[in-house]
Amino acid sequence: MAEKKRSSYISAKESRRITKFNRKVTKKLEKERADSGKDPKLYTTVMKDPDNIVEFDNVCTYFFTDVGTVKAVDGVNFNIPRHSTVGVVGESGCGKSVTSLSLMQLLARPSGQTVGGEIRLNKGDGTAYNIVNTPNSVMETLRGNKISMIFQEPMTALNPVFRIGEQVNEVIELHNPDMSEEEVKKRTLEMLELVGIANKEGVYSMYPHELSGGMRQRICIAIALACSPLLIIADEPTTALDVTIQAQILDLLQNLKDKLNSSIMLITHDLGVVAGMADYVVVMYAGRVVEKGTADDIFHHPAHPYTIGLMKSKPVVGQKVEELYNIPGSVPNPVAMPDYCYFRDRCEMTCDKCKGEYPPEIRISDTHVVSCYRYFDKGTVLGTPKTVNVEELI
Ligand SMILES: Nc1ncnc2c1ncn2[C@@H]1O[C@H](COP(=O)(O)OP(=O)(O)O)[C@@H](O)[C@H]1O
Ligand code: SF4
Ligand SMILES: [Mg+2]
Repeated sequence: MAEKKRSSYISAKESRRITKFNRKVTKKLEKERADSGKDPKLYTTVMKDPDNIVEFDNVCTYFFTDVGTVKAVDGVNFNIPRHSTVGVVGESGCGKSVTSLSLMQLLARPSGQTVGGEIRLNKGDGTAYNIVNTPNSVMETLRGNKISMIFQEPMTALNPVFRIGEQVNEVIELHNPDMSEEEVKKRTLEMLELVGIANKEGVYSMYPHELSGGMRQRICIAIALACSPLLIIADEPTTALDVTIQAQILDLLQNLKDKLNSSIMLITHDLGVVAGMADYVVVMYAGRVVEKGTADDIFHHPAHPYTIGLMKSKPVVGQKVEELYNIPGSVPNPVAMPDYCYFRDRCEMTCDKCKGEYPPEIRISDTHVVSCYRYFDKGTVLGTPKTVNVEELI
């Protein structure tokens, strides 16, 4: 215990050094961003596969905090194919939200920065925005229009002092400046109907507090979908709702996605939520992707010991157990990640190779990739996620 205390203790001198370093590095990164935003060539790139809407390519998003650099997302690789639902799962704090906020460029800057990798958003003609250095003026035209987001807590996502109609109108007006007032209202009412609100005229002039949690989440979905985005990010969209309402909201999302030809990035800590809905699943652990594949790969052939643990800890209807399985131990300290497999201290399946450095990504089937030494001789080694040495940034 004493040792643990000492390891998290920071002297005044060290604290001053960290503050100075953070100031220097964030200033430099902000300047680089501002410079690359001046020329569209610098934030335009090409998609690896034009059938993807978004490609996360070795994305590193760090927070420069008073206790050191938190590598919240460190070398994340995965794709969101067109018209698909991609579930991103993992326990709380593993970097799911930071991944999506990096894509929306809604990180708490200047302390939060994407310091490495590329996030490609398909423009539709094979070229792509590299979101990492796209300037805010362009991001404003993409957010809500090409990518939109549904948050966990519908009450805080809506503004309590404006009527529902005004809040939906606002998004439509912003992205369609040529529409007349009547056209905007018509579109808003259509959206309210689309998300299953029976009394749409009545709800149009209500305030958020007059609606139930499920109704409010429907409104948030209407706002997110008002401009038929390419991608809808749903970050724990049903965590704050009752179980019966959860199922309705997930059904609604899935139906609307098909109607609007969008893709969904469904973020959740609950495997049950992605089970019925996702085409592909990405499993994250401590800021990295440890396994990814089709829903069938992950649910029927889980390979990574962490995914296997998550499956075991999921309650099964009709199965009686004394106690639900829980994965022993806890996630490593995000300020000082080990130089070996991040899951090793909790892993019940270690082998000799696990003593080495962080395991590479290994392709074990056409669709299934896992980062674990147990598969080293059973697949194609793809490479290790690249981390960024922050000292080299300045
Ligand atoms: N603004 C911030 N400042 C410092 N650390 C942050 C900030 N936002 C998130 N983090 C850290 O990043 C890690 C990933 O967080 P997050 O993506 O929110 O996890 P989750 O998977 O639960 O969505 C956590 O360790 C969290 O403490
Ligand atoms: S690499 Fe080793 S320690 Fe890490 S998850 Fe696989 S078996 Fe466990
Ligand atoms: Mg989150």
